[in-house]
Amino acid sequence: MGQDLNKVERLYDTVAREYAEAFCGEHEEKPKDREILYRFSQEIGGNEPVWDFGCGPGQTTAYLKNLGVEISGLDLSEEILKQAKAIHPEIHFRKGNILELEFESNSIAGIVAFYAIVHLTEKQVGTVFREVFRVLLPGGTFLLTYHIGDETIHLDEFLGMKVDGDFMFFKTDFIFGCLKDRGFEEIEIIEREPYSGVEYESRRAYVFAKKPAAPKSP
Ligand SMILES: C[S@@+](CC[C@H](N)C(=O)[O-])C[C@H]1O[C@@H](n2cnc3c(N)ncnc32)[C@H](O)[C@@H]1O
Repeated sequence: MGQDLNKVERLYDTVAREYAEAFCGEHEEKPKDREILYRFSQEIGGNEPVWDFGCGPGQTTAYLKNLGVEISGLDLSEEILKQAKAIHPEIHFRKGNILELEFESNSIAGIVAFYAIVHLTEKQVGTVFREVFRVLLPGGTFLLTYHIGDETIHLDEFLGMKVDGDFMFFKTDFIFGCLKDRGFEEIEIIEREPYSGVEYESRRAYVFAKKPAAPKSP
């Protein structure tokens, strides 16, 4: 059974304002985030469209937009999308579910998903990777981040608000195998220690993965 998405949506509807305040501009304090996002922008070049899945209040979307990436954001929570639209009126944001993407197959040049899988079970992660693979253009790039580990943390309170939510950590072997099984190639996983005093004290991983390019015609 997967995690109840209504519960996830409620959680972010509840903390939307607090989450936006806490995390907008977070990349300024995280040099590895900046390095990785710069690399992603270079890999994308001028290709479009690019989407930020599980974009929250849009801090990663905006960071990439400032690097010249033609990017839009998608999230489950109406309230967090209201924050994203208010803070970044120049960017297009819309509601959607990464488990059932309403996009044509082979239609997106690049997808970034920062901590978007944190509330999903392993089975649901497999579904997301299958969907991401389907909608990426051949040769398209996927950039994912997650908390490394095998624990699930239950929170009754988050950012000072009463919530009911589970936060999942993932083992790198699982993520690697799951991406490979879905057909991704050139999978590179970069791990780092937490930035002490800046973020929750968990080890973090950044993943670059590619959908194979279309075979060249003879
Ligand atoms: C931990 S937050 C990350 C937000 C932002 N990317 C960041 O790095 O701060 C997880 C986000 O993913 C969204 N999310 C969770 N499950 C989703 C789903 N199935 N479809 C779309 N968005 C989802 C949540 O609403 C939330 O905004």
